[in-house]
Amino acid sequence: MDELVSLCKRRGFIFQSNDIYGGIKGLYDYGPMGVELKNNLKQTWWKSMIYERDDIEGLDASILSAPDVLKYSGHEDTFTDPLVDCRSCKSRWRIDNLDNKLCPNCKSGDLTEPRPFNLMFKTNIGPVEDGSSFAYLRPETCQQIFTNFKNILDSTSRTIPFGIAQIGKAFRNEITPRNFIFRVREFEQMELEFFVEPGTDEKWHDYWVKKRFNWWVDQGINSNNLELLDVDQDDLSHYSSKTVDIMYTFPHGKEELEGIANRTDFDLGSHTKNQKDFNISSKVSKNDKSTTKLAVQNFENKKWYMPFVIEPSAGVERGFLAILNESYKYDEENSRTVLSLKPHLSPIKAAVIPLKRNNEELVNKAKKIKNNLQKIGLGRIMLENTGNIGKNYRRHDEIGTPICITVDFETLENNTVTVRDRDTMEQQRLNQDDLKTYYENYFD
Ligand code: GAP
Repeated sequence: MDELVSLCKRRGFIFQSNDIYGGIKGLYDYGPMGVELKNNLKQTWWKSMIYERDDIEGLDASILSAPDVLKYSGHEDTFTDPLVDCRSCKSRWRIDNLDNKLCPNCKSGDLTEPRPFNLMFKTNIGPVEDGSSFAYLRPETCQQIFTNFKNILDSTSRTIPFGIAQIGKAFRNEITPRNFIFRVREFEQMELEFFVEPGTDEKWHDYWVKKRFNWWVDQGINSNNLELLDVDQDDLSHYSSKTVDIMYTFPHGKEELEGIANRTDFDLGSHTKNQKDFNISSKVSKNDKSTTKLAVQNFENKKWYMPFVIEPSAGVERGFLAILNESYKYDEENSRTVLSLKPHLSPIKAAVIPLKRNNEELVNKAKKIKNNLQKIGLGRIMLENTGNIGKNYRRHDEIGTPICITVDFETLENNTVTVRDRDTMEQQRLNQDDLKTYYENYFD
């Protein structure tokens, strides 16, 4: 983990947030390389959910949530972790994170009884801070998918089964954020709520578990480092009848990368008015504030029913950390660090390097090549006008750039460039006119 943290800072992937004022625990900023990798990961998820299928719609809903949404979703009552205080050093901990019930700070066993601590952040809406007009920062992105269920049904021609996908920020006031970006207070989720007919939910749950496992393998994660965990009944979230977690062997140990839950009709049922009109199978609290019924009509018998929901929910930061961990290697033979990222995730797709820094002819030629490749639109191409070719290759190996294109004096004579492959370090001379095809084939 230390090596990854150091690489992330040195090469502009991740910085401690608010660093110059001492930082805030559990918050991180994504630098020039980090933002590209993160965007690539999110885009790949989005494409696999929306563009490559015909049964899912997208959504981008607000982060600030009306208290009623999180009251009826069950979060006000149940979204808590067990908190204990150490009477000796006054620090606070999550009891389930402690070894042998000892304070990790001073090793004292003099702890208070655990009490529930709600993880939701609150903020005020409007100029008056009187407590009557507050909002929550959403602790999961999906509640707004449920509250928009009818809007999306009414504005599209969707029928069950279909899904609604969203990527966005979620906030949790974690008691002990830890393990770099693994457990943080502000993070992003990639969530799909897939609505199905009751009775077909188990089949769809199995389908999504397999689909999501394979997706992580496609992102370059070795399947030997992934494992499926059937979550114990006692550990299930309040809305779930069954959850399978995709576990990954992170540098600090095996932990959850993504959860796939069967949320039954809990959420649509909870946000629906006149619940008695429906045969809701889960235990929801009576809703007298909602103005809508989040149900659908059976085509044949015309009866209204409440769909069940299968939810694959993945953390962007945990995906980022897993992918970084998988691709990080020290190549002893060539004394270099390499991030062997899958090319579609690489922050920089190709670096174009004029052999001599600030040589006008070489730089102009390199700029032209850069601009032409950039137009293809597969991601960022970088012009690397810093001179030292060896250092440039090392730097781009470390940030995972799949190909480096060097423009030298021969280029000016015969229009050829050197193309170097990150993984094999092989170099070949290519005619500049063939570069576009080479690049497109490489990323195809
Ligand atoms: N809507 C369901 C839900 O939020 P969850 O298991 O609490 O379920 C889903 O969260 C995913 O979000 C997790 O698998 C994890 O990848 C990510 N996640 C949750 N809490 C996180 C935190 N504090 N820091 C980073 N990622 C987190």
